[in-house]
Amino acid sequence: MIATDENREIVVLPDLDAVSQEAARRFVTIATDAVAQTNRCTVALAGGSTPERLYRLLAAEPYRDAVPWASLYLFFGDERCVPPDDRESNYRMAREAMLDHVPVLPEQVFRMEGERDPQSAAMTYDAMLGDAFSLTPGRVPQFDLILLGMGPDGHTASLFPETDGLQVIERLATANYVPKFDSWRLTLTYPVLDAAAHVLFLVGGAEKADAVQQVLDGPFDPSRYPAQGVRTPEGMVTFLLDAAAAGKLSATQ
Ligand code: 6PG
Repeated sequence: MIATDENREIVVLPDLDAVSQEAARRFVTIATDAVAQTNRCTVALAGGSTPERLYRLLAAEPYRDAVPWASLYLFFGDERCVPPDDRESNYRMAREAMLDHVPVLPEQVFRMEGERDPQSAAMTYDAMLGDAFSLTPGRVPQFDLILLGMGPDGHTASLFPETDGLQVIERLATANYVPKFDSWRLTLTYPVLDAAAHVLFLVGGAEKADAVQQVLDGPFDPSRYPAQGVRTPEGMVTFLLDAAAAGKLSATQ
């Protein structure tokens, strides 16, 4: 099932494997097109567990040889405030599933330093984005692709419901305290997510169905459902959903 308007596309696929395969195909296409146009492709990787299957696909044939790895610059959408070798680290997940198995140099990967003081790490990432995208003050990087997941509460990246990070628009990256976890996170902010040429949400599982229905069908309330706040006026937001996560969507989508 595909529902499309000018800036949003909803694609429902049978299961998470099909979602991951579709995401891999789109990753290759977006990267190839970006490199053809600008000689590089900038990607922000998602964390959590859902994208791991995608990362493993990209690190293996047929996708591995199709990705222009030498021209990719890989960033992170968010990070837990833990060391990079911690089981909770999004960087560790991406490294083990993909980065260790593809031909990218360390200088092509821009890790959020979860081991540092959150505020300092956020400021460092903010400045690093400015350098990497050669931004003049006040400008926002336009990623070619931002990969995102969605939690059962409708959060995305580390923009959680009713948290301060939702209001940060003057920075590119911020530290965000998440009361439900009693912990800090590092996350890209809405202005960066909204400037992307392509945003790909990968969402699977029945436990996400309520959030998906609210985010896609419900009233606009991004404080309560932060994934709703990701809207790319110049780009395309694509929701790749498995049937279970899409189970409560109205047929008119
Ligand atoms: C994180 C992610 C987060 C994730 C959702 C879904 O650091 O956890 O960035 O936004 O995408 O929580 O997580 P799952 O894929 O594990 O369901």
